[in-house]
Amino acid sequence: MSKNVLVIGTGTIGEPLIGLLADHKDSLGLDNVIFFKRTPLSDERGKVESLIRKGAKIVSTSDALSEFHQLGFNETSDVEQAYADSDVIIDCTPSGNDNWDNVYSSLDQNKRFMAQGSEHGFGSFFAWGINNEILKEESNKFLIASCNTHNIASIVKSFALDEERELVEGKFVCLRRANDVSQNDSFSPSPTITKHSNQEFGTHHARDVHELFAQEGKKLNLFSSAIKLPTQYMHTLWFSLTFKDVVQHEEIMENLDNSEFLMATEKMSSNKVFSFGRDHGYHGRLLSHGVVAEQSLHVKENTLTGYCFTPQDGNALLSSVAGTVQHYYKDDWKEKMEIFNRYIFKNI
Ligand SMILES: NC(=O)c1ccc[n+]([C@@H]2O[C@H](COP(=O)([O-])OP(=O)(O)OC[C@H]3O[C@@H](n4cnc5c(N)ncnc54)[C@H](OP(=O)(O)O)[C@@H]3O)[C@@H](O)[C@H]2O)c1
Repeated sequence: MSKNVLVIGTGTIGEPLIGLLADHKDSLGLDNVIFFKRTPLSDERGKVESLIRKGAKIVSTSDALSEFHQLGFNETSDVEQAYADSDVIIDCTPSGNDNWDNVYSSLDQNKRFMAQGSEHGFGSFFAWGINNEILKEESNKFLIASCNTHNIASIVKSFALDEERELVEGKFVCLRRANDVSQNDSFSPSPTITKHSNQEFGTHHARDVHELFAQEGKKLNLFSSAIKLPTQYMHTLWFSLTFKDVVQHEEIMENLDNSEFLMATEKMSSNKVFSFGRDHGYHGRLLSHGVVAEQSLHVKENTLTGYCFTPQDGNALLSSVAGTVQHYYKDDWKEKMEIFNRYIFKNI
């Protein structure tokens, strides 16, 4: 059978993911990159055309085919065939759990299914480079960690777990962008607080990171808060890690330098970081898990405090790609992923 991957959804996450897979299809050893566009929209013709130009194939439901043909996409075919032909299905919609109930659960269960951030409970948490081992599990369902989970998990891994520093407590404030630059709705005219609806973890952000590491038997004491800000640029994370032992600022700078998934920057504003991503990222996105504002790093005895920008529309993309390549190439998937090193920077 051909090595096909089907991406469901062409929004903020689906669109660049389809691009990444299609542009690197040959290096990744994939035969076909197929995408499911649900709604035929004339104002999204350019997006569909661009993805097809990259070599991706469009499918939709049978009732929408004639409308797609009228829009000029005569090659649009039935998603039912793509479901049968694809061994990897990546859901990039805010309805991954519903789609599981209504569609995926009745497909061949030898396929690998992935869903994104909002779909808590879909499967085991996976973040590329943070817990690669989880992909060896028998499970056929994985939840690609959200943008904040990628960032918080990278901070915890780089400054505590990888260094075998005992973490007494990790505190985080997710300063969230109001909406994505591609969206009109949900803009916030003023800072808007998220309820602490989780008694143990505050918001779901710390809970998700706790659950991710608990999968490998590590039970971490984490707490998060979140607030939406009137900006479209990107999320920013404030963090404070308290260790059992005293740390030195120089050690922390060294850890940052050694981190595979965190970048460093002297920039102190999210627009500057966002702008770099627009110019030098892939589809205008930064693919690293987080961008640490190195001048914000503050060490006092056993506590590290700082800020880290979160490339929220880019940092989860390589996890979906890794989950795809590992399914087809169990032995050399990590080598195949090296093709993306060209998009990873150490310092911006
Ligand atoms: N936005 C971010 O920065 C970000 C970051 C990390 C993770 N995520 C996660 O990624 C997921 C998608 O978020 P997004 O921001 O990309 O959403 P989005 O921009 O609103 O796009 C949603 C896409 O899903 C399609 N869609 C919605 N319901 C569908 C269904 N039932 N069947 C098929 N297609 C459907 C829509 O298709 P049509 O327009 O064709 O109808 C649209 O292309 C969420 O789980 C979110 O938590 C988002």
